[in-house]
Amino acid sequence: MARVSDPALLLVAGLAISLLMHQLGAVKFDLKNQCGYTVWPAGLPGLGGQQLDQNMTWTVAVPAGTQAGRFWARTGCSFDASGGGTCKTGDCGGQLNCTVSGAVPATLAEYTQSDQDYYDVSLVDGFNVPLSINPTNSNCTAPACKADVNAMCPDQFKVDGGCKSACNVFQTDQYCCTGAFADNCPATNYSMIFKNQCPQAYSYPKDDNSSTFTCPSGSSDYSIVFCP
Ligand SMILES: *[C@@H]1O[C@H](CO)[C@@H](O)[C@H](O)[C@H]1NC(C)=O
Ligand SMILES: *[C@@H]1O[C@H](CO)[C@@H](O)[C@H](O)[C@H]1NC(C)=O
Ligand SMILES: *[C@@H]1O[C@H](CO)[C@@H](O)[C@H](O)[C@H]1NC(C)=O
Ligand SMILES: *[C@@H]1O[C@H](CO)[C@@H](O)[C@H](O)[C@H]1NC(C)=O
Ligand SMILES: *[C@@H]1O[C@H](CO)[C@@H](O)[C@H](O)[C@H]1NC(C)=O
Repeated sequence: MARVSDPALLLVAGLAISLLMHQLGAVKFDLKNQCGYTVWPAGLPGLGGQQLDQNMTWTVAVPAGTQAGRFWARTGCSFDASGGGTCKTGDCGGQLNCTVSGAVPATLAEYTQSDQDYYDVSLVDGFNVPLSINPTNSNCTAPACKADVNAMCPDQFKVDGGCKSACNVFQTDQYCCTGAFADNCPATNYSMIFKNQCPQAYSYPKDDNSSTFTCPSGSSDYSIVFCP
């Protein structure tokens, strides 16, 4: 009788599960914690959140066609047995199992599945933890923000465990690309600080050209690595 630890059998089982998920119209995301500390990742819409110890992976299935999805890591959390508590960064209304976005600052991994898969790393809501997005399709780019942006954070943007963005701090049209800046929103001296640290990540809301990546629909699963 074949042992369940047989590598060939596991590979076949793995391929079968992956194939089945694509047939059901789901895209698999593996969230891996390579930080030297526990993080509490969360996913919207509808994926909740959980504790992820060092070197552990949280696998979720995202229904095909999901728009405006996001993952982020929370840090410094403490929850009680019923899942209520707080986090130092990325807190989602005091719940372990997130149903709303996290507090700024938090590095985001964003995705939208439409004619293609669109994905990006975003510092528009600031930075807390370095991360990368890695498509299993090797033809597709794997953007990352690996730098410790906190180390280069302007003093007035610094918070415990993170670095807010200029839009977070000043809330003006120029930095948030709203109002008179909605259609024409150039980079600023502040956004350049983030861009210099992480050239592949959104450094302000209209930083699309150098920050959005695509992969053919249904051709890839993804892993998101915290502290790649
Ligand atoms: C967390 O929330 C998700 C959806 O928001 C739900 O499907 C899941 O059952 C919840 N998990 C727990 C442990 O409450
Ligand atoms: C996590 O993995 C790294 C690299 O393999 C290893 O050095 C480290 O000890 C591991 N940490 C824990 C808590 O297992
Ligand atoms: C990668 O691109 C090559 C050349 O365009 C193509 O033949 C191959 O099928 C692609 N691989 C995947 C996994 O899509
Ligand atoms: C950015 O520009 C603003 C307005 O011109 C100025 O007040 C601020 O000191 C500059 N900040 C940096 C980090 O260069
Ligand atoms: C982004 O790229 C588009 C098309 O290549 C171009 O028209 C547009 O001016 C660019 N925007 C910025 C802000 O560089």
